Amino acid sequence: MSQKLIRCIDGPNLNLLGDREPDVYGTMTLDEIHRRMTDHSIKMKFDIKLEFFQSNSEGEIVDCIQKSKSMFNGIIINAGALSHTSVAILDALLSIEIPKIEVHLSNLFKREEFRHHSYISRGVNGVICGFGPNSYLLAVDGMMKLI
Ligand code: DQA
Repeated sequence: MSQKLIRCIDGPNLNLLGDREPDVYGTMTLDEIHRRMTDHSIKMKFDIKLEFFQSNSEGEIVDCIQKSKSMFNGIIINAGALSHTSVAILDALLSIEIPKIEVHLSNLFKREEFRHHSYISRGVNGVICGFGPNSYLLAVDGMMKLI
């Protein structure tokens, strides 16, 4: 079996991790989380390559999802606040038939009510939230069950 390519997409303000609301999101930077995902997949001998993309712009995230169609075997996405607002990201996810997992660092259901609903959840195979940076590692494990 050939190596599978997984796109990991992070949305607005996730570039500020480490610095941003550490009581909610912890102190690990996004680069550190991505490094941990790669280290985890190597340690677990998963035959995958992770490619990372972060943007604060909804349109760039939609473009990234559309471009992933022919090149990638799966998508792991934390759309940040856009999860709660973006029909455009939902539609982009629905347009592409590879496995998709939504992740969040925080437990959305313990937070403000407006975070309890995610538009993009309808467009993914599964959702992982509330495990801090480990949500991303669990998403890698989950992706291995789907690809
Ligand atoms: C988040 C949760 C969102 O509600 C918030 O807007 C974020 C981060 C999380 O990972 O917990 O930016 O997606």
